[in-house]
Amino acid sequence: VKVKEMIEPADKVYTIAHRGASGYAPENTIPAFELAREMGADSIELDIHLTKDLIPVVIHDETVNRTTSGKGFVKNMTLEQIKQLDAGSWFNQDYPMFARDLYTGLTVPTLEEVFETFGKDINYMIEIKEPASKFGIEAILNDTILKYDLAKRVSVHSFSAASLRQLHSINPDIPLYQLVWNDYAATRVTQSYLDTVKTYAVGISPNFQGISGAYVAQVKRAGLKIIPYTVNYQLNMDKAYSWGVDGVHTNYPDRFLEVIAAN
Ligand code: G3P
Ligand code: CA
Repeated sequence: VKVKEMIEPADKVYTIAHRGASGYAPENTIPAFELAREMGADSIELDIHLTKDLIPVVIHDETVNRTTSGKGFVKNMTLEQIKQLDAGSWFNQDYPMFARDLYTGLTVPTLEEVFETFGKDINYMIEIKEPASKFGIEAILNDTILKYDLAKRVSVHSFSAASLRQLHSINPDIPLYQLVWNDYAATRVTQSYLDTVKTYAVGISPNFQGISGAYVAQVKRAGLKIIPYTVNYQLNMDKAYSWGVDGVHTNYPDRFLEVIAAN
């Protein structure tokens, strides 16, 4: 009889609200983060870019076009210019079932505003979206984390290994997660790749679409944590949980919390 490999659940399985509770509220805004906290998420995931005047702001795309009333690249706009834009009305138009008056006229938050609002009440998973640039987003991020005394509350992830290595050299105490595209998933994840990641990161965050139970087991055997993204449906959440992941990124933190509670 073939014995199936049993995978123990992780000691603590984290619910990470991807761009906040972004299934229900405009992504990367204070209300989306507030809702994630109310739902009981462990962490909020947020994306940062630098403005022209080198202020980290919380927005996913490199332009403001999709999620605000304006047009243009974040890096070409000052904070003052970005603060003129409406970062919530697009959501009310696209998702009328979740529309709320309070989303109209929301602004793109700065990283500092998010830290000021939530302090030590939540954990942060911050994604560096503009990596290893000449402007040194890694050092600016580290300074901001230290300014708010949040070193024990912040983890950082990025698709850019160069950016993560840079941050690791600036502050080795910040836990880092290597984001991994589909093309490294499943058959292509190798021990030597995982050994390399382990020199600067505590874990990897692969695209859920490319992983399996065997993949999760391989990563855990290598001594790395694994937190796949972005897991929005209960069927996939059940799968991820049964494979023993350390958490998931989800737009629907309430759903994953139900999956954890049911196990
Ligand atoms: O949560 C991981 C995820 O944030 C990476 O992709 O495009 O949603 O930032 P993206
Ligand atoms: Ca992200």
